[in-house]
Amino acid sequence: MTPECAQTSLCRYTRGAACDKEAGSRAGAARVAVGSAVAVAAMDATGPHSQQPRVVLRLPPCWLLTAALLSLLLLLAYYCSGWSGEALQVQELARQMGCSPATLAATTTPPPPQRTVYVITPTYRRPEQLAELTRLAQTLMHVPALHWLVVEEEAPTTALVSELLASTDIPYDHLVGPMPEEYKNKPGTKARGVSQRNRGLQWIRANATTGVLYFGDDDNAYNIRLFEEMRSTERVAMWPVGLVTDYGISTPVVADGKFKGFYDGWIGGRKFPVDMAGFAVSVEFLLQRPNASMPYKVGFEEDRFLKSLAPFEPHEIELKANNCTKVLVWHTQTKKNKPSAALDMKKYNNTNLVLLKKIIV
Ligand code: UGA
Ligand code: MN
Repeated sequence: MTPECAQTSLCRYTRGAACDKEAGSRAGAARVAVGSAVAVAAMDATGPHSQQPRVVLRLPPCWLLTAALLSLLLLLAYYCSGWSGEALQVQELARQMGCSPATLAATTTPPPPQRTVYVITPTYRRPEQLAELTRLAQTLMHVPALHWLVVEEEAPTTALVSELLASTDIPYDHLVGPMPEEYKNKPGTKARGVSQRNRGLQWIRANATTGVLYFGDDDNAYNIRLFEEMRSTERVAMWPVGLVTDYGISTPVVADGKFKGFYDGWIGGRKFPVDMAGFAVSVEFLLQRPNASMPYKVGFEEDRFLKSLAPFEPHEIELKANNCTKVLVWHTQTKKNKPSAALDMKKYNNTNLVLLKKIIV
């Protein structure tokens, strides 16, 4: 190897192959064999770099193409086979957690955005109120994409209810829906929770464009799976409710996956003889029915509200809970408690009982 050749890195690849300086001197280039490829060391014989050969690697086009393809394949293999840093981190994490990288990826990938379920809960001050709301809050805390509309009967809102709501991580609005004077002064049984439900509907009309609405009374028992069932409601969905009337259940009747009628201990001439806890309505559908609301008609609240969604017929009901074969909500009725006895302030002044008495009714 000539000293000139030895100065170039390319010539080192020749591993002692002849460096034809003679042939190159005329054209200013030395040809060096590199395997079957040919390297040309360009020699500037006149300039200040006469002792520094310029080396140019000249490969046949098919080799260049092969090399480019190989690089591309290597790059692809790098990303697909998990050699990248991120993939290695996932593999390591999966190893530590004792699961496969695919399982880990499935559990860590954020789910697509879900339609919000708006739960409208009428509530009022009574001995059981905080107990009911605590239980319901702790059920709803397990439900993602849920907005809780807690509607009290009278202003101002109860501080203890505000405190309870603020202590959960559930998105909520604490509202008041007083009963109009004309109904308040009417003799006879009052339609319970109606003014609050209508206030909830008004809030949804003003604040939501998509989602599902559900009237969730404060005293029922809810399986959290119910909220996933109702989330896909396109117009009106229904399912069974346990502990309703002497029949023990209120439900659509289903055969061959089709709606056949209603089963409820009190039909009462209703077109939709169902319980308040037994249906959900999509927000989109509600917005298409600007006049839909709940009437102050004891016993007919559900029926008249559903009728106010007309045109809508029972055979159009979306059947949930595995074709109405599962009970995911129960119409539990908490025993009514008498208001607590007065506190003997002489005896218990300066004790915890003074504070506790402010909590209980
Ligand atoms: C049944 C139905 O499940 C209710 O949805 C319906 O409103 C009620 O009958 C009716 O038609 O009167 P029921 O268990 O008998 O329910 O009634 P409650 O549980 O006492 O009340 C239903 C909801 O309204 C509860 O969330 C409750 O806190 C609320 N409510 C009740 C008030 O806000 N104010 C009241 O004076 C009474
Ligand atoms: Mn109830």
